[in-house]
Amino acid sequence: MKTVLIKCGGSVIDELSPSFFTSLKELEKEGYHLLFVHGGGPDINALLELYQVPREFENGLRKTTAETMEIVEMVLAGKTNRTLAAKLTSHGFNAFGVNGSDGGFLQANIIDQEKLGFVGDIIKVKTDVISMLLNGRYTPVITPIATTASGVKLNINADFAAAAIANNLQVDHCIFVTDVQGIIINGELVPQLSKQEIESYIHTGLITGGMIPKVRSAVDVIEKGLQSVRIVSGKEVFFSQSKWVGTEIIAKEGILR
Ligand SMILES: Nc1ncnc2c1ncn2[C@@H]1O[C@H](COP(=O)(O)OP(=O)(O)OP(=O)(O)O)[C@@H](O)[C@H]1O
Ligand SMILES: [Mg+2]
Repeated sequence: MKTVLIKCGGSVIDELSPSFFTSLKELEKEGYHLLFVHGGGPDINALLELYQVPREFENGLRKTTAETMEIVEMVLAGKTNRTLAAKLTSHGFNAFGVNGSDGGFLQANIIDQEKLGFVGDIIKVKTDVISMLLNGRYTPVITPIATTASGVKLNINADFAAAAIANNLQVDHCIFVTDVQGIIINGELVPQLSKQEIESYIHTGLITGGMIPKVRSAVDVIEKGLQSVRIVSGKEVFFSQSKWVGTEIIAKEGILR
């Protein structure tokens, strides 16, 4: 089965353009089965604000107290997942919401309790759930919450979750959809970037905030052997006539595909 994993940023779910869905249809026409992982940054921030819970980030990762975690789950599972699933359904996809914390689907360890609180790194993905859904011609829409071995729920950066799922399922393409065209350096979209270039741009402060976990996840996927990893915009066409738009992450500098 040919598969494409699409991580849809919370930054862009409310702004997905008709041309984004046209790109999805083109992928389907080429025989790909789609699965989605979603983020939810802006929705989470809005509810934290309403509840007057302060927010804090460390290298693009959200510090998550027990109180924050409750809000994260409410928003991701109760709102963002529902919004994306409904949009996909209205465009003819058989969307099916999946909670990472159910049935041991996403299992994780705490990264650094002191620094980040209830934030995890995925150690195991039970891919059978996803295979079952894909075989039934459903389009899984995955919420990035995981559980520890003892059942504690952890907030997983959606880019990390997408990378772990892409690696475990060995998808054909992994795409990070966000609110910018790709990686922009000095005002210009960069069509291809290697790990070395990425690390130097993080070091010099040209890649910042939420783009850091995204590029690191993209590099992780490339290093685990997946051939096609891209960062694209959800506001524009990202795939048309078998051609991709956005930034492609490549294994080594200077190798053009
Ligand atoms: N060099 C860069 N090129 C492009 N965007 C960058 C760069 N450095 C930092 N960014 C920021 O990264 C943001 C995208 O990451 P962000 O985490 O905000 O969104 P997302 O991952 O799509 O959504 P969510 O985190 O809700 O899933 C862009 O909106 C931009 O502000
Ligand atoms: Mg993000």
